[in-house]
Amino acid sequence: MVRLVGRAMLRGFLDVVLPTGALGENLELGNPREVRSPVWPQERWRRLVACPGRAAKTPLRRGSSPAPGQVTTGVCRAGVRAPELRSDLPRELASSNSIVGVTQVHSAVYWSEYHRAMQRIEVAGERGSYDVVVGRGLLGRLPALIEEGGVEGRAAPVTNTTVGPLHARSAAAAAGWGQPLELQDGEEFKRWESAEHICRWLLAGDYGRRDPLVAIGGGVVTDVVGFAAAVYLRGIEWVAVPTTLLAMVDAAVGGKTGVNLEEGKNLLGAFWPPRLVVADVDALVTLPERELRAGLAEVVKGAWIGDHGLLELLPNHTTGFGDLSPQAWQELVVRAVRIKTKVVTADERETGSRQALNLGHTLGHALESVTSYQRFLHGEAVAWGMRAAAAIANRRGLLSDRSCARLEEAVHALGPVPPLADLDPEELLAHIGRDKKRDRGGVAWVLPTDEGVVLGQRVEPVEVREVLRQLIGERRSEVGW
Ligand SMILES: NC(=O)c1ccc[n+]([C@@H]2O[C@H](COP(=O)([O-])OP(=O)(O)OC[C@H]3O[C@@H](n4cnc5c(N)ncnc54)[C@H](O)[C@@H]3O)[C@@H](O)[C@H]2O)c1
Repeated sequence: MVRLVGRAMLRGFLDVVLPTGALGENLELGNPREVRSPVWPQERWRRLVACPGRAAKTPLRRGSSPAPGQVTTGVCRAGVRAPELRSDLPRELASSNSIVGVTQVHSAVYWSEYHRAMQRIEVAGERGSYDVVVGRGLLGRLPALIEEGGVEGRAAPVTNTTVGPLHARSAAAAAGWGQPLELQDGEEFKRWESAEHICRWLLAGDYGRRDPLVAIGGGVVTDVVGFAAAVYLRGIEWVAVPTTLLAMVDAAVGGKTGVNLEEGKNLLGAFWPPRLVVADVDALVTLPERELRAGLAEVVKGAWIGDHGLLELLPNHTTGFGDLSPQAWQELVVRAVRIKTKVVTADERETGSRQALNLGHTLGHALESVTSYQRFLHGEAVAWGMRAAAAIANRRGLLSDRSCARLEEAVHALGPVPPLADLDPEELLAHIGRDKKRDRGGVAWVLPTDEGVVLGQRVEPVEVREVLRQLIGERRSEVGW
């Protein structure tokens, strides 16, 4: 817990941390050795306020406003609620966006209160419209949000074994729900048996037609829970609570649900949009950096399709993702969700323009497949795929040198991805030839243009081969980039 809060501070999500028990382990938060990170700058923890002393009567002794970087002490009692505490805080701290109390008594529980307004994006679809709510501290407020979203019934929370202890158990406890069902973690568990397991768990728990499933996790959890919702009792409501960047900006929006078969990914599925999506950007605090970067690759893709200005907001791995404030993360998620919303609203069932979202995916899928889904995260494979698509578009005169360099730069800024060096271009070409987007005319690529993308571009194997050789031959492809 202490480490978790430390990481949260470093990423700038928490302005104030108040260890409310005796000093002990809590003060480790103020130990630079504990919290130093090459990625997240130290200014982020300038507002650490350590509060030693046990069960003091007053929430916080006045006059303990800390200087930047300084650990100041005050006294507060364990278990005080945010409003009480806020009223007794020095003015500078009281107006902060986020306050977290860490107590030794409830070491696994922390509460937070955020004043920042959440943002809503409406997604229109065949089954009616639904909102994507983006904000901070939303995991602690799920029942109210779900009620506002017009969803009734007894919520059935489902997560996985990683997100459970990090977020879902506390969210379910705060909501007064039962313990969430925890699926095993991993793409290999996005399968029929997991959906069946969810349905049997619902039956055993006597969940009926009016009770919503609540998926708390990354894209794997949202896909499989959404699929279970589509088939259980011929379809029940569900709420998506995405906890990875990729799931917030992509998987949870647009209504595609599904599971994998041994023969391939997403071969069983349904269009079954959730009734509500709740994206709490605070959940990103615990996301491993590699997952964050993979999610950013999908954001770059979206930005290229529909909002080039968003590229300016993206963090650069060389300066560190900690440079981005929580507000900026929120803005980034909102803008990426808006792009996806626009695309899926125009073509919910992917009969045409929604294919734009496949930018980078033709080579991306082939890379995942030839490496048996072991080497690349999906976003990383898409990052290579976007570079290939940009090179092809540039050779064809669809993408200017300037735009090509801009897209390359945006992809490189995401930081290292696994290498291509030892991969066989012919094997990749064979996989590309089996792409789902193939028809009699060949494989249809989505290629970037200066303004956005162009769909249905037939690209001959000879063109792809040349670009693959170029990418594989790059010195940096031996180490990724
Ligand atoms: N339905 C769609 O439209 C759509 C779109 C894009 C992707 N997808 C699917 O999404 C899946 C990939 O999603 P993903 O990238 O989120 O992967 P994921 O769900 O496997 O999550 C990645 C890892 O992060 C962990 N995790 C999740 N949230 C966390 C958090 N807040 N803190 C710490 N760890 C956390 C997960 O347990 C997992 O280990 C794929 O199956 C893909 O097919 C679906």
